[in-house]
Amino acid sequence: MSEPTVYDAAAIGAYDLISSMLPPGSGLAAWVSSQRPLTGRSVLDLGAGTGVSSFALADAGAQVVTVDASRPSLDRLGSKRGDRKVDAVEADFRDLRLDSTSDVVTLSRNTFFLAQSHDEKIGLLRTVGRHLKPGGAAFLDCTDPAEYLRADGDATSVTYPLGREHLVTTTQNADRAAQAVMSVFMVQSASALTAFHEVATRATLPEIRLLARIAGLEVTAVNGSYAGDDYTARSREMLVVLEAKWPLFLSLRPRARPSRWATPRCWSRRPSR
Ligand SMILES: C[S@@+](CC[C@H](N)C(=O)[O-])C[C@H]1O[C@@H](n2cnc3c(N)ncnc32)[C@H](O)[C@@H]1O
Repeated sequence: MSEPTVYDAAAIGAYDLISSMLPPGSGLAAWVSSQRPLTGRSVLDLGAGTGVSSFALADAGAQVVTVDASRPSLDRLGSKRGDRKVDAVEADFRDLRLDSTSDVVTLSRNTFFLAQSHDEKIGLLRTVGRHLKPGGAAFLDCTDPAEYLRADGDATSVTYPLGREHLVTTTQNADRAAQAVMSVFMVQSASALTAFHEVATRATLPEIRLLARIAGLEVTAVNGSYAGDDYTARSREMLVVLEAKWPLFLSLRPRARPSRWATPRCWSRRPSR
């Protein structure tokens, strides 16, 4: 597995500042609760960051277990948690094995794309399946991959103010062939500049459908906005609902397949012979 894309202590203040100003926040909770009740239900939020998604789900009435591989992120989350029902676990979500299952599993704000290869995405989806209660549902909150390609291969850069004291510059470069997106975030004030970066590998909806099936899950709904609009070619968001459809023991026995089937040939980067 590749190194997880996590934010170190130097980046946390800047990440938290950006994170608290951007969607989804309560939009995520509204979307999830339009499909599954949250009040009194258990939620596993994978990729907690400094808590924006977990807090929004807890504020909607859920009991949240939140997982992140970044200790500085979880420390910041702990300092902001107050009396919300949010338990934090420091772990890599790609091979997570908790003792409990949840009514809802969430991967918000492109966290699904931080599993870089198809095999890592399948591993992450298997994690999702392992932790869903019967009848539960998982929610992948993603930017529509087409959004990254609208600049036609050029890097894009946007600067905007955050409050009165900070400017944020986000620069993105999409590698069409590798489906990779490198994002550099710079937060500037009059006296300081902090930069951090993130590498994501996007997946299209047909790819997600296929990866989910391999992991024993099925896409049961796709929305184009947190308000529940249909997903269309013009949607900026790709909000995917997954449910476990196969008996789980099938998804827990991936290695029974011949290894040449582990990655479909069309995804192989090796030249064909
Ligand atoms: C895009 S942030 C999303 C944070 C939060 N859910 C939100 O909506 O603001 C993704 C988070 O996933 C975490 N992360 C990335 N790879 C991970 C891995 N393999 N295991 C656990 N956490 C991971 C990062 O540390 C980061 O906090």
